[in-house]
Amino acid sequence: MTRFLLCCCFIALASFAQAENNKTFPDGFMFGVATAAYQVEGAWNEDGKGENIWDRMVHTDPSSITNNDTADVACDSYHKYKEDVELIAGLNLTHYRFSVSWSRVLPTGFANEINAKGLLYYQNLVKELKARNIEPVVTLYHWDLPQPLQEIGGWTNPNMVTYFKEYARVMIENLVGVQYWATFNEPKQVCRAGYGVGSLAPRISSNGIADYICPYIIVKSHAEVYHMYKNDFPDLKGKMSIVFDGQWAEPASNSTADTEAAERKMHFEFGLYANPIFLGDWPQVVKDRVSFRSEKENFTRSRLPEFTEDEISTINGTFDYLGFNHYYTRLASDVEEEDFDDIGYDRDVRVLSTEDPSWEKSPNGNPIVPWGIRKTLKWIKDTYGNPEIFITENGVIDDGSTLEDDIRIDFYKGYLSSVLDAIYEDEVKVTGFTAWSLMDNFEWTGGYGYHFGLYQVNFTDPERPRTPKKSADFYGTLARTLKIPTSWANKISACWIYLLGTLVVFQFL
Ligand code: FCB
Repeated sequence: MTRFLLCCCFIALASFAQAENNKTFPDGFMFGVATAAYQVEGAWNEDGKGENIWDRMVHTDPSSITNNDTADVACDSYHKYKEDVELIAGLNLTHYRFSVSWSRVLPTGFANEINAKGLLYYQNLVKELKARNIEPVVTLYHWDLPQPLQEIGGWTNPNMVTYFKEYARVMIENLVGVQYWATFNEPKQVCRAGYGVGSLAPRISSNGIADYICPYIIVKSHAEVYHMYKNDFPDLKGKMSIVFDGQWAEPASNSTADTEAAERKMHFEFGLYANPIFLGDWPQVVKDRVSFRSEKENFTRSRLPEFTEDEISTINGTFDYLGFNHYYTRLASDVEEEDFDDIGYDRDVRVLSTEDPSWEKSPNGNPIVPWGIRKTLKWIKDTYGNPEIFITENGVIDDGSTLEDDIRIDFYKGYLSSVLDAIYEDEVKVTGFTAWSLMDNFEWTGGYGYHFGLYQVNFTDPERPRTPKKSADFYGTLARTLKIPTSWANKISACWIYLLGTLVVFQFL
């Protein structure tokens, strides 16, 4: 009996040493990689492509990008897409999430002129993927608005609803085999960074005004496209939705004020974009805060546009899954109401964001907090009635000095283990995971200084060669086995425990 019990203890110890999370992802779970048109394609003015807001920004204000980098060539995927697909196939992946460059297909943004060569590029890419049994997951808008549409107000112009719908129709009609569509990538970045803070193109600083008009136009544009897809293309059975970025806000203390502050932040940063689509209307707390402050600031009405009843019901329910990008976690604490002499989104949110100094950091300073993804997934499940969640981005940077990117492997081990717990312990319906990114690419204002890829790209070589990092093999094994791969170090320590156990049991007892 003692021998038996001891055996059990050693076996348990050995399995613990072997894997942090031994569970298997559910059958049919999808593992893929993501990129975005502007970050990888290059060919910025080739074959009839029009100018977009990022082209304009990098060319007219080079200093806005680290090292004055441009994406004129980027990873040259416009010419090397077959090689990209080859790499994806080599990793046993189920899907490739990429985005369409609007101005490559419609050079002026308007649907009166279709650029056949631009369209053909995406048709070829989809064909190539399908031939290798890889599902295309297509994002229609990943931040690169045609410049002529910006000239007339961009995402603050109500006519954008029509222009976006016309563009989407062209893509849906011409990429019929696509099963997964996303209208927008990260509307929070489009609106807050693009129109509120002015840190990303088109760099408009209209804090607390345009950053509320923008979500209003974006969710309406999204809903129109969703209905068009369902009504005008009944034979196409794909899924249409939208991708949100959701970072976790953990209360800085267990006080009621901090707990409410964290929840408020989640509603301002995630709910502002997700609520209209998943529940109808803006989150109540956002409506209350913005209208309260607007009144004190002597506005005649809330700075947050109001939906009509008709709009609420048109927008509500326009999703087939929830696309979710996750990168980091912050602590949230309540702060005092600021006076009303200045307006701004941060004053509306009234939350201080900090970090726990004990958290590990990535080379760009983002906290690595694996449990944050599990908490966000659970929050989405509870807030939005348990929708299907497709993780459309998650990843970390390495410092670019080595192909031995253990930082990325450890990051994914931690985050994926948390995703497994969300699936099995919290019963969140997660159906897919997408690594950001297939390869190092143009990281917006960070240029080529941020290395998010499973593959390294040599940006000084005109051929832009791709070289696998250690994490590529890790990710490929994960996709093939649906289990988080165990490192050799763990396997070896497990063997030692087995050996030691056998010795103890049979030698000394
Ligand atoms: C996300 C963006 C993506 C990339 C990653 C690192 O917010 O969607 O394009 O920049 O961050």
